[in-house]
Amino acid sequence: MSHTSLVAVEFKGDVAWVTIDNPPVNATSIGVRQGLADAVAAVQGARVAVLRCAGKTFVAGADMTEFDRAPVEPHLPDVLQLIEDSEVPFVACMHGNVLGGGFEVAMACAWRIAAPGTGFGLPEVKVGLIPGAGGTQRLPRLVGMEAAIDMACTGKVLRAEAIQQLGGVDLVAEDVEAAVDSFVADLPERPVPVSQRPVPEFAPDLIETSGEALKKRAKGQQAPLEVLTALSWATEPFPEAQPKERALHLALRDSAESRALRYAFFAERVVSKPSLIKDIDAREIRRLAVVGGGLMGAGIATAALSSGLSVTLIERDTEAASAARDRVEGLLKGAVKRGKMTESELQNGLSRFRAVDSYADAADAQLAIEAVFEDMTVKQQVFAELAQNMDANAILATNTSYLDPVEIFAGIENQARCIGLHFFSPAHVMKLLEIVHTPHTAPEVVATGFALGKRLRKVSVLSGICDGFIGNRMLSAYRREADYLLADGALPYQIDQAMRDFGMPMGPYELQDLTGLQIAWANRKRNATTRDPNERYVPIADQLCEMERFGQRAGKGWYRYEKGDRTPIRDPEVEALIEDYSAEQGITRRVFSAEDISSRMLAVLANEGRLIIEEGVAENAEAVDMVQVHGYGFPRWRGGPVNYQNEIGDKVSRAMMDIVDAESPGSWRVARGDC
Ligand code: NAI
Repeated sequence: MSHTSLVAVEFKGDVAWVTIDNPPVNATSIGVRQGLADAVAAVQGARVAVLRCAGKTFVAGADMTEFDRAPVEPHLPDVLQLIEDSEVPFVACMHGNVLGGGFEVAMACAWRIAAPGTGFGLPEVKVGLIPGAGGTQRLPRLVGMEAAIDMACTGKVLRAEAIQQLGGVDLVAEDVEAAVDSFVADLPERPVPVSQRPVPEFAPDLIETSGEALKKRAKGQQAPLEVLTALSWATEPFPEAQPKERALHLALRDSAESRALRYAFFAERVVSKPSLIKDIDAREIRRLAVVGGGLMGAGIATAALSSGLSVTLIERDTEAASAARDRVEGLLKGAVKRGKMTESELQNGLSRFRAVDSYADAADAQLAIEAVFEDMTVKQQVFAELAQNMDANAILATNTSYLDPVEIFAGIENQARCIGLHFFSPAHVMKLLEIVHTPHTAPEVVATGFALGKRLRKVSVLSGICDGFIGNRMLSAYRREADYLLADGALPYQIDQAMRDFGMPMGPYELQDLTGLQIAWANRKRNATTRDPNERYVPIADQLCEMERFGQRAGKGWYRYEKGDRTPIRDPEVEALIEDYSAEQGITRRVFSAEDISSRMLAVLANEGRLIIEEGVAENAEAVDMVQVHGYGFPRWRGGPVNYQNEIGDKVSRAMMDIVDAESPGSWRVARGDC
């Protein structure tokens, strides 16, 4: 028996069992690499070696904190070569997840045996990297080039059964260790090591066509294309191609894209544990009431039902209740159609759901989410009813986008149980949940909001109170700068194009057309009296609304639309309106390059984020950035607006904000704090 702290070797007769024990995910950190190298020496003399992991999973990745430091020997490719070349052949015995370095380890073994449902993948692309220990070289040899591209360029996880069909797993068995026992008792002839096999034949244009498709989907992101390049090297001899893969992997560790993606990965963990709820236990919520079954309420109910909760949905009358039921059923059936839910899960979900018109039915709910019209009086009435009908301790939550929760809850006796749970549309799809605490909200109630968010598979971010909370406040600053650019010389299509080029799924004007211009208009009207008179105000959006150009659904907004077609078409009427406005204001319109546009828009976005942090509405840059990534389509591979500004350099970013400020004097508050 030989030991390192993380890898143990134990002989059972002539079989050596090598066990990695490096919780939580048995990552290939330095101790594991060294332990494996030692294990290869220790197993010599055995007939066969079995490689397995303790705990919940096989090796499920690398230790990402090591990526910020210089690599330390022994390097994984060398360790894997030792395993592959070992005189004693290795059998990988796998359960849980076999990801990244874990999959690379498995491919260096002579045989692979997995428990049913074990997940296999090379997710390096998701952190802006390519695999660095032969993953791109062995995978095409093992499962074919097409499947390898499909997996490694997307980071997709395939189950053991699917990998077995592709020839990548030798056996899938319920009791995997027992299966390994019988397998090694009657060991088949040792196969040719994966790295020495030829890549099975594939279509000559496969790499090229895959590259075109990836380029379209990647929207500026580089890593998927880098992975493809590395995969294409697999047709060369392994000893020549693997070092190239390794070099590219190491180079990419220093790329801005990988830094941003790794930042986002850690930021998600940071925002899930705000200091306000450190060491605070959450209540377990099983029964939910949702009031209002329109667009948002139906989506929230769907998300809750899909996560196993019971939902009582309360509407104004029986007719509205029945319409809401249809809406929720429709959304759940849509999930079945898209393969996200099985028919029996649908039936199970529906059995936990009722849509009613009476508050008495909410009596047993532990938490109520209000999603009625955006109207203070209506919301206050709803909470008065809920308070009367629910347990005195039950949590009361509002999904308001802009109204002040303190005022909404003013009539409630125990305000410690009141909170904002701000979902994004469509609520059953969008990942972001802003959890809004008032000065009265109890930390335990906030913790329960986070636990609920986790249950609903959301990325929850804590926000204090300000107009629009974190996300919509930033959006409004972003739109304001876009309007200033319009007035000064840009046109909607140029701004949209510039932001799409940056990596946004859509520009600000096409997005407004998609979601409709009315809500923001109502908001501007509501805020008209409190707006700073020195702030520059561009009324073009108001003019469009007055002309009933409300967006796509109206057939026209910032663009015009052909019937039944969502493609925005430039509209001379709108462009003339913009140019007339500039003329009226005595502005000489000037040319803005795409870079001029995006750098201003991004400076404003980051500036607003920094103000939000300075004011204590958000706890840190991670909160602001994750709101943008998960709620507004900010490219994850840019990390988020504050991270991006830090990446391009704090000085550059702040200098740009000073330019923006000078171009629209009196309109901006410039953040000076350090974040
Ligand atoms: P909606 O108009 O689609 O739905 C509102 C529903 O509330 C309607 O079905 C209506 O019948 C029902 N309702 C009205 N008064 C009621 C009452 N007293 N009792 C029971 N039901 C009542 O509106 P939507 O878009 O779903 O918005 C709801 C709330 O969610 C608003 O506060 C809005 O600001 C917020 N929100 C909206 C987002 C969006 O993208 N639409 C995003 C995030 C939050």
